[in-house]
Amino acid sequence: MDRRRKRTGDDKSPTVSKKRTLPDSVSSDKSLNCLATVKAFILPAGIEKMRLQIFETQLKKYGGTVLKLYDNQATHLIVDDKMEPNRLCRILKIASPPTRVKIVKSSWLSACFKRKELLCFDDYRLDCSTYIKSKEPDLSFAKEKATAASNSESTVGGNVKTKNMLPKAGFMFGHHSKNNIPASADDDDSDYCPSDGEGKPGDPSSGNNEFAVSPQKELPVGNWVCAQSSKTPVENQNKHITDILEEMVKTYESTNDKWRAFGYQKAIQVLRKHPKPIKSFEEAMNLPSIGKRLAEKIWEIAESGELRKLKELRSSEELKVIETFQNVWGAGAHTARTWYQQGLRTLDDVREQGNLTHQQQVGLHCYNDFLDRMPRAEAAEIEQVVCEAAKSLQEGVIAQACGSFRRGKATCGDVDVLVTHPDGKSHKGLFGKLLAKLKELGFLTDDLVTAEDNGNQKKYLGVCKLPGEGRKHRRLDLIVVPYDEYACALVYFTGSAHLNRSLRHLAKKMNMSLSEHSLNVGVVRRGSEKIYEGTPVPTPTEESVFVKLGVPYRPPEERDH
Ligand code: TTP
Ligand code: MG
Repeated sequence: MDRRRKRTGDDKSPTVSKKRTLPDSVSSDKSLNCLATVKAFILPAGIEKMRLQIFETQLKKYGGTVLKLYDNQATHLIVDDKMEPNRLCRILKIASPPTRVKIVKSSWLSACFKRKELLCFDDYRLDCSTYIKSKEPDLSFAKEKATAASNSESTVGGNVKTKNMLPKAGFMFGHHSKNNIPASADDDDSDYCPSDGEGKPGDPSSGNNEFAVSPQKELPVGNWVCAQSSKTPVENQNKHITDILEEMVKTYESTNDKWRAFGYQKAIQVLRKHPKPIKSFEEAMNLPSIGKRLAEKIWEIAESGELRKLKELRSSEELKVIETFQNVWGAGAHTARTWYQQGLRTLDDVREQGNLTHQQQVGLHCYNDFLDRMPRAEAAEIEQVVCEAAKSLQEGVIAQACGSFRRGKATCGDVDVLVTHPDGKSHKGLFGKLLAKLKELGFLTDDLVTAEDNGNQKKYLGVCKLPGEGRKHRRLDLIVVPYDEYACALVYFTGSAHLNRSLRHLAKKMNMSLSEHSLNVGVVRRGSEKIYEGTPVPTPTEESVFVKLGVPYRPPEERDH
């Protein structure tokens, strides 16, 4: 007989039954339906499975309704006691805490069960006064992403392909992210640098020192990503784990679950730096920025070599379709989801029934070509065509491919050609002439974003095709910049995006700011808000940018982080 059975037997003894039966029956009479008015959705986040099950069973026992989905029926939204309003909104993907429903901490339920009555929840209400209206992924990159992702935004100037929508994306202008890492301009990318006491009292870049004058700070930069050569990376001892987590990032990006994607991305960064393979759950738990759930997943992979959750997600038909749709240039997560919700399942469906923007039409037309990375030799040919066209228009012009090509990669997703003129003035007017010339040559086949002004810089995003049989359509970005912005633009467009984030973060720590335009000193920030832009310092060369930030200069091939 098992222990439970035995206890049941014990309950049958006269003493026990006397003791228990009376109060139970009395109380259950009045309490059985005490929670009948409660239709609750219990948000599982932070609540252990066992507890969740107990809540559900007990709630039903006392006449309440457990909702499997959070919808209009809900009278109560039950959350973990540690839940914060901003997190709640992120999880539920809503703009602000709901007001229609009572948002109550789970300890209220426990108290109701204990007292067997519907208790007043005032003391258990989630305090939503601490809710801070979240900044949407700010800066133009994210806006562009959002723009590109919605059907209504098909006009030039903000409509660029971005593969990912990520927290605090801060890509400066007219670009599309193909990286799995959030592009944060001036924000919290603390995982790209060592922990160096961010936000300590007296740190002028923290919120604690509101209007401090900002002397340039000296920082030990040895461990910063931007101070390392990408050619001598620290060997990743947990590659078997990070590879699977990368898949999770991609999956969550495709569902636009940017916070989860961000969480996994952070975990990847932490694991990559961990000096040895993870050997126990406790070791995973002790990693910085890793919570229990992530630690469980890390341990599951370490132990079994796979992750059930990934398998589950990957097998979802919906996800596969959405991923396919998201690979259409100009369609972001939102558009992909909308198409799916409209019942479209294949690219042919999209072609026939999707209400397509011009970019999406081009994206669909060049679908396979754009997914295929070109060999670097082909990128070199494209660079040459642009270079010759530019030189034919203006003697002395500099036109060079940056991005992955300049970093020496064997294949390139697109070609990013940066154009300037050393005399500081002849770049003016060149942009329009160069585009006209390249069109005249039949080299540019489609425009995606024809002219984007970014201060003194101009940018074109389009499609080109080299002459000859069997050539593919390739993505081309053209950026014309004034010569005094050239070095910073060169650093920026050479990337990698990861290196850029690290450089910008370092600059921020030094009360400076780095963009594709300039390196500014004496920047004043209040919290994350820049309240004084500072002054640009001369940066005649790429080296000077690195030197002023106090990091060793790295040639492009060593910047492939
Ligand atoms: P991309 O052309 O998107 O990237 P890439 O050239 O490094 O890689 P790919 O082969 O896939 O084209 O962008 C060019 C540079 O612009 C990139 O190297 C760094 C910068 N950049 C950022 O700093 N942040 C970003 O989010 C993106 C997308 C680019
Ligand atoms: Mg590129």
